Amino acid sequence: MTGRGGCHYIISSGRKGRQMETRTDKPVIIVALDVEDGAAALDLAGSLVGKVPFFKVGSRLFTAEGPGMIGRIKKLGASVFLDLKYHDIPATVAGSVRAAAGLGIDMLTLHTMGGVEMMRAAAGAALEGAEMFGGRRPLLVGVTVLTSMSREDLSAIAPVGGSVRDLVLKLAGRAREAGLDGVVASVEEAAAIKERFGRDFIVVTPGIRPAGGEKGDQKRVATPAQAAEAGSDYLVIGRPIIKASSPPEAAAAILKELEQV
Ligand code: C5P
Repeated sequence: MTGRGGCHYIISSGRKGRQMETRTDKPVIIVALDVEDGAAALDLAGSLVGKVPFFKVGSRLFTAEGPGMIGRIKKLGASVFLDLKYHDIPATVAGSVRAAAGLGIDMLTLHTMGGVEMMRAAAGAALEGAEMFGGRRPLLVGVTVLTSMSREDLSAIAPVGGSVRDLVLKLAGRAREAGLDGVVASVEEAAAIKERFGRDFIVVTPGIRPAGGEKGDQKRVATPAQAAEAGSDYLVIGRPIIKASSPPEAAAAILKELEQV
């Protein structure tokens, strides 16, 4: 199996703030709670929590509901990935990451294109925020090239010398240098990232589509089994689960597919 990672996840019990870590050699599913409001998000998370240990709060839900959402999801006994993709000057991102770490989240994103100085400031601020909160430092993962972007989309913005993979590897290298825990990339680049930066450098892959599933706006997509084979540690899955007629059944089918890898 190429690039298999050292997969792990953290589940917070939610009771008396205790945290419990469980390890697995299968990639962990993170369901993106890309729904209209907090009530819908909590219903969805509540229906999945026995199967799915991790939920992603993105800009849509966070903007609509605010930080209170984080604690409500954690009370279900799940981990929270705050996907606000910070990209600003170093001092501003450091302040945002410190505040986010203080919310008790388990993972967050920032754009690698913000530069090494910005990412370094974020890594330091995450530690400070976690110390202030008295909890664990969240995992910091850098967004490389969005899975909704193709090489043509990139070239329409700026000249791109090599392939998307070359650019992703370069950005992943800068993230590692800055002290991030890993990156967000497509399955197409996951094995190459593991090979170059090692098993412990986390790869989070969105753009997951069960065979025959609709792509939507995603361009660089792969099935859950392909993602596992490539060594992804965490699979971020939105529409294939949240738009399914039965989200728990859709999640169970994906878990079954992963069991067979
Ligand atoms: O519905 P779908 O499975 O395409 O959702 C993917 C989720 O992953 C979305 O919430 C999107 O914001 C997020 N994401 C992504 N590409 C990245 C980083 C995050 O699609 N590079």
